Amino acid sequence: MTVTRIDNLAAAQPADFTVLFVKNEAAGEKFVETFGETIRGAISDALSSDVVVSFYADGSNGRIAIVHGEGTMEEARLAGAKAAKHVAAQKGDSVVLVPCCDNKSGATLEGFILGSYRYTRYKTQEDAQWEGPKSIQVVGGEAASEKIKVAQIFAESTNLARDFVNRSPDETTPQGLGVLTKEAGEAVGLSVDVWSKAQIEEEGMGGLLAVNRGSIDHPAFIVMEHKPADPVNEQPIMFVGKAVTFDTGGLSLKPTKDSMDHMKMDMSGGAVVIGATVAAARMNLPIHLITLVPSTDNRPGQLAYVPGDVIRMHSGATVEVLNTDAEGRMILADALSYAQRFKPQFVVDVATLTGAQVVALGSRVAAVMTNEGEGSTERIEMMKTAGEATGDLVAELPAFAFYKEQLESDVADLKNVGGREAGTITAGKFLEHFTADADGNAYPWIHMDIAGPAFGHTERGYHPKGSTGFGVRLLAEMLRTIAG
Ligand code: BES
Ligand code: ZN
Ligand code: ZN
Repeated sequence: MTVTRIDNLAAAQPADFTVLFVKNEAAGEKFVETFGETIRGAISDALSSDVVVSFYADGSNGRIAIVHGEGTMEEARLAGAKAAKHVAAQKGDSVVLVPCCDNKSGATLEGFILGSYRYTRYKTQEDAQWEGPKSIQVVGGEAASEKIKVAQIFAESTNLARDFVNRSPDETTPQGLGVLTKEAGEAVGLSVDVWSKAQIEEEGMGGLLAVNRGSIDHPAFIVMEHKPADPVNEQPIMFVGKAVTFDTGGLSLKPTKDSMDHMKMDMSGGAVVIGATVAAARMNLPIHLITLVPSTDNRPGQLAYVPGDVIRMHSGATVEVLNTDAEGRMILADALSYAQRFKPQFVVDVATLTGAQVVALGSRVAAVMTNEGEGSTERIEMMKTAGEATGDLVAELPAFAFYKEQLESDVADLKNVGGREAGTITAGKFLEHFTADADGNAYPWIHMDIAGPAFGHTERGYHPKGSTGFGVRLLAEMLRTIAG
């Protein structure tokens, strides 16, 4: 998809659609000069209804669509997505977007690209293979230029994460995910290293290997690095993402309906941090960033780990497995303890970790937690601010020390489940354990549970059904703010 900024409508190349975004009658006046008196009626129709109104200019301007509304940035994104659907219904290959105002050009474009997303890989009918518009011209002054570039990167990186998750899980093996990540990462100048099973064994990643035991596919541990010449941070910022390519629950098997059937989405955390890392590289952010993605599927099998197994983790801690379906924390724990050696400025992990997160916050808001101590309020604020700016909303859950008591084990250092109460928090407390070294010194850490928002069962705004890519834009925005 190509995106071109143009100064004004007069500079546009012919396109299948021209989309005018109008807030009110007054804002529509400026189009009378270009399209003639009759556009007034079309604009007032658009304003009085919630639908997109099409208007056929008698000149050679092609089809004009009028979309109502652009108040907040989120409304601008939603208006962009509404336009995308209108254009898609008629398979428009090229489009000119005329946002209400310069400061909404980026958000309108972002919503348009996000809303144009379709996953066609497995469609065999020609009609269903249309991939969305190929060329977008967006009106905006020179001042909007940067915002337009960023919006394109945010939306395309989100779509990349969506693609990874939407693939059929039989195609997306852990090592296969490594290959895709290498392709996407190296194309934008990232260094990407995909560890083999032997390397994972050498490093002693007992949690990742335990979950992988029931599988016939080897696990992978993906390491991405963005290392610009003159970064603003001395210590790397790190992302860690859960990439369980399919979660059957293992021997603690999930029921199929409404539980196992969408578990290809259990690699969303990994896809999101990969997408955000690609975005950071594309924006050339002056930030040293290291991203870790532990990956395996979780299946029952002859060798599968069983409830009662005590696993020696990468950190050296022992974990009593009481539910093989609490596998995400097993693989993330190894990545979090491995992260210690980089002495990170802070680490954000992203995971579809608990069904309890969906119960607590629903499917539009992710849960965030952080370790207590210096900077904890600022860390949560940083996530909330980036969330509100992008529409990837988050809410904080508490992380009081006493929650960890629920993880006490009779035979090992801790167990992998904390009982029925506060399931999202105890999962977070389990992860937190691995952010500290043997002396109990922990790096600053933020955990984001995206079990609800990662995957949509209905289309909503600029999110299609299926993977939403929730979190890519939040993380990318957070990095952009830090870069200054
Ligand atoms: N991948 C699931 C969590 C999940 C559930 C993600 C629903 C998205 C939607 C995770 O591995 C899991 O199964 N967690 C268990 C933990 C429990 C056994 C302590 C859960 O939430 O039931
Ligand atoms: Zn599970
Ligand atoms: Zn899982």
